[in-house]
Amino acid sequence: MTEKLVIRGVELWKSWLDEAAQARLLAALRPVLQAAPAFSPETPWGRRMSVRMTSAGRYGWYSDRRGYRYVTRHPSGNPWPPIPAEALSIWKSVTGLAREPDCCLINWYGEGARMGMHQDRDEADFSWPVLSVSLGDDALFRVGSVTRGGRTESVWLKSGDVAVIGGAARLVYHGIDRIRFGSSRLLPEGGRINLTLRVVE
Ligand code: SIN
Ligand code: MN
Repeated sequence: MTEKLVIRGVELWKSWLDEAAQARLLAALRPVLQAAPAFSPETPWGRRMSVRMTSAGRYGWYSDRRGYRYVTRHPSGNPWPPIPAEALSIWKSVTGLAREPDCCLINWYGEGARMGMHQDRDEADFSWPVLSVSLGDDALFRVGSVTRGGRTESVWLKSGDVAVIGGAARLVYHGIDRIRFGSSRLLPEGGRINLTLRVVE
């Protein structure tokens, strides 16, 4: 059974996916990761991110010295693979939107990986929500305000949890302080996968 929590405007649907649905989603992501292997993007400041990333959809999120942006191809030169139907159906059932997302960013957290506080603001229209799906190890998710600094609240995201970053909270600062490596057995190799589905255009 799912339970809804609201953390500084972010709607969190605990256990939205049961174990079977988590396993089906993970299986659907395997061919995507094979076609578009995850890589560690470089930040505009020249550091490698600790999270490995890839995307599915018409656009993929990308970063290098030139900045954060969406691009239509994986660094290999190939277009990004299509967003798996399993991910699209979560978007549809949670958001109720007929408009499909243009990008499914896949973040892979290994031991020690983290993500600093940031806003998701590379999209053209902030009236669309960002939907986040967690698979694998627990992650400490921190949510702040729409401006940098100030109070924050943290919550552990578990495998199967789904969060909606939308409405008045669409531009909140958020990040992942750490994961509990090995806390879930969903990924045999350990670690965490987070999907964020976004309307880009
Ligand atoms: C992100 O902000 O892009 C990812 C958040 C998460 O890993 O839960
Ligand atoms: Mn984000």
